[in-house]
Amino acid sequence: MTEPAVKCRLVVLISGAGSNLQAIIDRCADGSISAQVAAVISNQADAYGLTRAREAGIPAHCLDHRDFQRRVDFDAAMIDLVDSFSPDLIVLAGFMRILGQNFVERYLGVMLNIHPSLLPLYPGLDTHQRALADGVKNHGASVHFVTAELDGGPILIQGHVPVEPHDTPETLAQRVHTVEHQIYPQAIAWFAKGRLRLSDGRAMLDGMPVLLPDNIQETFFNLSTEPEQ
Ligand code: GRF
Repeated sequence: MTEPAVKCRLVVLISGAGSNLQAIIDRCADGSISAQVAAVISNQADAYGLTRAREAGIPAHCLDHRDFQRRVDFDAAMIDLVDSFSPDLIVLAGFMRILGQNFVERYLGVMLNIHPSLLPLYPGLDTHQRALADGVKNHGASVHFVTAELDGGPILIQGHVPVEPHDTPETLAQRVHTVEHQIYPQAIAWFAKGRLRLSDGRAMLDGMPVLLPDNIQETFFNLSTEPEQ
């Protein structure tokens, strides 16, 4: 398949280390994702992800939420900044601010998030600690469309990892990160090819509702690092 003349434009929102951002940059560079990162925006000036973006030659901006008294004003400024890059897809990759209704509604169906748990288990914070406290044997990460419900939008793909007997929140987080770096690029690659959409509140892949968990293994292990022909 020949490359489309205009690539899907991604704007990635981060707050921290940006390891998912790096995986996305790398998969765009090697052709696994037919998209380009048009900009990276952080609400934290010292987010290492901004350095990753600059090193990759990607415009990197900070919009500090502490400069705004009201959440709604921060959201409005963020919309202006995001829209200035004409994105096709907004990618939340460790963005640690809750976005308001206006923001979510504006980008409904074109905004994805990655969450470090097997949703609907453990929405919110401290997912690894909570999973360990519950003694679960299986943990992981989920990519979902962003809707008004926090960590509650339709799920596109999940990646599972085992929980080992001596795991700490840190060792478990590290294992979960390895699958995050697989499943997020996969979901973005689907979107960039026009295979993924939100329809009547359901995630659809190739026109069929995404079924979980049965298709996880297949989708997870199909991610190729080779450019598609
Ligand atoms: C990831 O665990 C992601 O699931 C969560 O925030 C973390 C971001 O990590 N939303 P990084 O900044 O991509 O390394």
